[in-house]
Amino acid sequence: MEPPVSPPGQTSSQPDAAQPEPALDPSPLAPEGRANSPAVPSRYAPLWAPLDETAAKIQIFTNDREEDWRLGTEQDHARLRPHYDSGSTVLDLGCGIGRLAAVVAPRCRALWAVDVSPQMLTLAAKRLAACRNIRYVLCQDTAFPDVPDQSIDLAYCLLVMQHLELEDSFLLLEELRRVTRPSGTIVVTYPNLLSDFYLDCFVAYAHRGAATEMARARIYTPQEVDRLMTAAGFRAEITAETEIRVVARPI
Ligand SMILES: C[S@@+](CC[C@H](N)C(=O)[O-])C[C@H]1O[C@@H](n2cnc3c(N)ncnc32)[C@H](O)[C@@H]1O
Repeated sequence: MEPPVSPPGQTSSQPDAAQPEPALDPSPLAPEGRANSPAVPSRYAPLWAPLDETAAKIQIFTNDREEDWRLGTEQDHARLRPHYDSGSTVLDLGCGIGRLAAVVAPRCRALWAVDVSPQMLTLAAKRLAACRNIRYVLCQDTAFPDVPDQSIDLAYCLLVMQHLELEDSFLLLEELRRVTRPSGTIVVTYPNLLSDFYLDCFVAYAHRGAATEMARARIYTPQEVDRLMTAAGFRAEITAETEIRVVARPI
């Protein structure tokens, strides 16, 4: 069994007043490509170490077909668009190579691109070099203490939570609660066990003996997601189709 990882700073402190806006550093990555140093070795980072952009796209989307990438991004962005404007500070949790950050950053005030993988962050910074309002932050598995409390208008986390152990995905939700403004919104997706597609995935995983594979997708019911959202301090509106799509606000 792997040792438990409890990064320092995993708190949900809520200050009385919102913090000032973060000063966004246009060149936040150190020359060697590390945004900051995790306090403990990550259990997740080694799973996400693509050698190049093509390998990253295959990891993120299971293929690198340009048309799938474009259509998926358009659909995802259409769901984010009502929740931010040009004055918003946005956080992309598990940003990968910046699939959505590339579309959101030019339309918002500032964007924090947060990921557990130094390789993903380096590829994102290279692809999005023209976007001067993005700051890249290395996530410490379940915490990103560089992002101030109650500073975010919109946080989104797409295709990420399923790749974490249940407890860790809950800690990330609590971390989202810490950074979200009282008037802010989070948008999060999970695979839906009640859909035929993900039930088949689950059965295939079970038959393959995937229970111990860290990189497997964990599959949720809408009821579980609703309970976890409430426990983390959010009131959730849930749309359950193949994916569970959550739009939630702080309680
Ligand atoms: C399937 S990709 C999705 C990327 C991006 N959200 C998108 O939709 O294009 C999953 C991403 O989550 C990141 N990730 C995995 N575990 C994480 C964690 N504990 N904290 C933050 N990011 C994590 C991976 O490095 C990877 O970039």
